[in-house]
Amino acid sequence: MAVTKQQILHWLETLAAVLAENKDYLTELDAAIGDADHGVNMNRGFQKVLAQLPTVADKDIGHILKAVSMTLISSIGGASGPLYGTLFLRASTAMAGKEALTDEDLAALLKAGLEGVVQRGKANLGDKTMVDALSPAVDALEAAIATATPLPEALPKAVTAAEAGMKGTIPLVAKKGRASYLGERSIGHQDPGATSAYLLLKTMLDTLEVE
Ligand SMILES: Nc1ncnc2c1ncn2[C@@H]1O[C@H](COP(=O)(O)OP(=O)(O)OP(=O)(O)O)[C@@H](O)[C@H]1O
Ligand SMILES: [Mg+2]
Repeated sequence: MAVTKQQILHWLETLAAVLAENKDYLTELDAAIGDADHGVNMNRGFQKVLAQLPTVADKDIGHILKAVSMTLISSIGGASGPLYGTLFLRASTAMAGKEALTDEDLAALLKAGLEGVVQRGKANLGDKTMVDALSPAVDALEAAIATATPLPEALPKAVTAAEAGMKGTIPLVAKKGRASYLGERSIGHQDPGATSAYLLLKTMLDTLEVE
């Protein structure tokens, strides 16, 4: 099964809508352990992306992802701007020149993105960051694709793993970013970045029409 460029565009457009809907929720999560701006940050960045997509819609997928990256880096700021910017930048390099993606490509896109986030932010699994949602999802997708599980079965596994990773941040002590200043007081709160990362993947599942 191939993922078309139109589906990638549909994913990104829908993600902008999903982040707008979840703006207050993400900001509330960040109010508990950060500085109450994650929803505002993500919404600002993805509204800019939404406005920009028509100008790059005729380009290849690598090009589109690169444009997303540049927009996020220039419009979000904070910790999540460079981190999500790096995710999309690495994904764009991995998908350079492609007009459609195979199942393996989609796994490689997310893996490259995760590696970028880890290199940039230096977070380990369990540090209560977006990595805790992204990493299990990438592992699940890679494992499924490696055993020739088709995307309609593989992607739900990745989203389930991301959701478990997101919820798994609740009992953790934050080790990175502003939340780490709270130490033990960060326990009991779900990480905002892990939540936005889950939404990114859930929206991918919902929009790639892989049932
Ligand atoms: N070093 C890191 N590696 C991976 N993710 C990180 C790192 N630092 C912060 N994050 C993620 O960024 C989210 C916070 O993003 P936000 O948009 O609120 O930016 P911010 O307010 O500048 O961040 P922070 O308050 O964490 O420094 C956190 O919930 C966490 O998931
Ligand atoms: Mg914040």
